[in-house]
This record gives sequence, C-alpha cells and structure tokens, in this order.
Amino acid sequence: MQIARILQSQGFGSRRECRGLIRAGRVTVNGAAVDDPFAEFPPEGLSFTVDGEAWDYRQNAYLLLHKPVACECTHKPQCYPSIYSLLPPELSARGVQSVGRLDQDTTGLLLLSDDGQFIHTWSSGKKRIPKCYRVTLKHPHDAGFIAQLLDGVLLHDEADPVVAAACEPIDAHTLWLTITEGKYHQVKRMVAAAGNRVEALHRQRVGGLQLPEVLEPGDWCWLSDAHLIALSDFPSL
Ligand code: URA
Repeated sequence: MQIARILQSQGFGSRRECRGLIRAGRVTVNGAAVDDPFAEFPPEGLSFTVDGEAWDYRQNAYLLLHKPVACECTHKPQCYPSIYSLLPPELSARGVQSVGRLDQDTTGLLLLSDDGQFIHTWSSGKKRIPKCYRVTLKHPHDAGFIAQLLDGVLLHDEADPVVAAACEPIDAHTLWLTITEGKYHQVKRMVAAAGNRVEALHRQRVGGLQLPEVLEPGDWCWLSDAHLIALSDFPSL
C-alpha cells in the first residue's frame, strides 16, 4: 500500500495533505526517512513517525478513555469540552466514536472505536453486557432501597421494570451497581425511582474489562489484545 494512503487511513489528512507531509521530510517508516509518497509498504506491523511522533499502523482503532468530569460525549458539546478534545486529532479524523455515552458528570471507562460493528455490538442492549458503576448517593441506602433495585423499578416512559443485575454496598452512601441495558440516564433514573439521588457516578467495568488503575482521568490507551479478551470475558446475566 502506498505510504500516502497508509497515512490517510490513519487520520493524517487528505491524500494530498499526506503526500505533502511525506515530501516535506516529516515522515519516517520503520526507522528510515521516506520522501516518496508512492513508496509501497505492507501496512500490517508498520511503525512510522510523523514529526517525530511514533505511530503503529492499525486497521481499526480500539481505545479506552478514563472519562473525567465536565466533558461531553459528543462532537458538538453545549456546555463543556468534548471528550474528543482529549484524543489526538488523527483519531477523530479517522472517525473514532464513543461506544455509547456517559453523562458530562459521570467519570470512568469509555470505549471508543472507528469499527462500526464493534460500536454496535458493545453499545447494544441485546447482548446484556454488564456495566458496573460506583454510585455515590445523597441519602444512605438501606435494605429496602437495594431490594427495589434488584426487584426492578419502573422508569418513566418504560413499559417494563428495569432490574439491576447486581447491587453491592460499599459504605453507607456508596454502592456498586451493575446494569445490562444502556438506557438514557439509566442509573440516575433507577436510583431516583427507588427514592434516592445520585451525587457521583463512576463506571468501573464494561463486560469483563476493568478501568486500568494506571489510567488517570483524561488519559486514554489503545485496547490491547488482553483488554479485548477481558472485555468479552463476562458471565451471561
Ligand atoms: N447512567 C446514568 O445515569 N448516567 C451515565 O452517565 C451512565 C449511566
């Protein structure tokens, strides 16, 4: 594949812009300078630099972001910066999208990809993928509150009760809540329907994948093969 096409596929601009980068001597491939935009390389396993920054060729991008508070999961944010401003512009340019959305005040694990099938699979409610949240409550919880969440609560505009897949207290005001759907504001609405209020919400796990401890709020990483295996490794609920 021509190096200009490879760079274009990785989000470095139009074919013309990528040719310009290469002719300007700003690109190296597998450690050697390349100034011919038509030079052919096998893309799989290719390492390249643009302006000294190292990249590996990836047919698709699979990422994990530790979403901080006060940012919106949209390209056109209304009140806060977009999560996409936390990523290198090349990733937005190649069409990376979040897998579902978290509210602006929710923190934690957010998957992103430019693979439409991956986004569909991991955001669909059909697969009943567990998503585990640490929920901080305004009022202390009691056995009745937890029983309501586990038995199911009726949300406005929903025909059937929505049931928590798991609910485990951490302390008087905090609990782990696992849900398998992805309804709008689901955790906040479930908690409100059970008579309490969410003060803080953090997503700790999606499928079998935990938010890596090393990832600070605002940081992102590529999903490794081990991450992808962990993601799919969850019991059916
Ligand atoms: N449920 C919510 O209420 N908000 C989120 O951001 C995620 C789940």
